[in-house]
Amino acid sequence: VRSLIIDTDPGHDDAFALFLALASPNINILGISAISGNIPVMASAENARRVVEIAGFPEMEVRPGAVMPLMRAARYAHDIHGKTGIDGYDWPMPANPPLSEDSIDWMIRTLLTHPAKSVTLLALGPLTNVALMLRRSPAAASRVRNIVMMGGGFFEGGNVSPAAEFNILVDPEAAAVVFTAGVPLTVMPIDCTQSALMPVDWKDRLAALGTRTGDACAGMISFFEQHGNRKFGTRTRPLHDALAMAWILWPELFSGKDCYVAIETGSTLTLGMTVVDWWGSTGLPANCHWVRSCAMEKIYELMFDSLAKLP
Ligand code: BDR
Ligand code: CA
Repeated sequence: VRSLIIDTDPGHDDAFALFLALASPNINILGISAISGNIPVMASAENARRVVEIAGFPEMEVRPGAVMPLMRAARYAHDIHGKTGIDGYDWPMPANPPLSEDSIDWMIRTLLTHPAKSVTLLALGPLTNVALMLRRSPAAASRVRNIVMMGGGFFEGGNVSPAAEFNILVDPEAAAVVFTAGVPLTVMPIDCTQSALMPVDWKDRLAALGTRTGDACAGMISFFEQHGNRKFGTRTRPLHDALAMAWILWPELFSGKDCYVAIETGSTLTLGMTVVDWWGSTGLPANCHWVRSCAMEKIYELMFDSLAKLP
């Protein structure tokens, strides 16, 4: 059983990632840390509560982290994720509020009290909280087993600017901290996620489950299809963050390469670019595993089976 801390900004695809983690018997979620990203941090925390409660885990702990990126103004993604971040379903009011403790303090405490190298950190939004944890407590940082993150893109370009993907662009300095921290790092970039679009029949199949989780998923899909397909010219949407969670569950269904990646923090033209040394031209040692492709049909089937287990 793998112990997991999830740092997230739900976000439709974050919600799918949370459902997938909650449905997996081999995953022990220690708690959820919310981050400012698609929506402001408190909205992230409240959305995470909505998701865990729909999935039948009202006891799951959710805490809010940093309000702002390290050095820049916050920017959100209401154009993709709607007013609430998880538009498309009439989510009931959560029974429990998020806890008031700061999630960065909580991550440090959790890492220091669990066996060293036993906890995986899954980062599904801008990397502000993760960077602050790494910087505030090197002792906690040294105990992280690995970080698995969704963000970046090189071969696909960016999805917010021509060069940058949302999670990196929102807080490039935090990303630079994470990529230079020396903690084992797996990156799920849009190079993989944009080429693994959700099957077109998913909305109907999820609705046909007759469960509240299935209804929530189908509702979210109808919303983000309307708002993303026009922009990207596709019939269905990628499930970015859910694929990062899928990598933790089924790494053998993905392929990629260990390589050196640097984050652009200076240029205005290419701010937030993940510069991937795929061919090793710098001679610098690898600082991450960069995922490039996946067996998408198999992965979507396994994900569907997991979602179908939830109430
Ligand atoms: C990432 O940005 C967010 O909008 C999604 O939730 C995902 O984490 C994709 O670029
Ligand atoms: Ca996200």
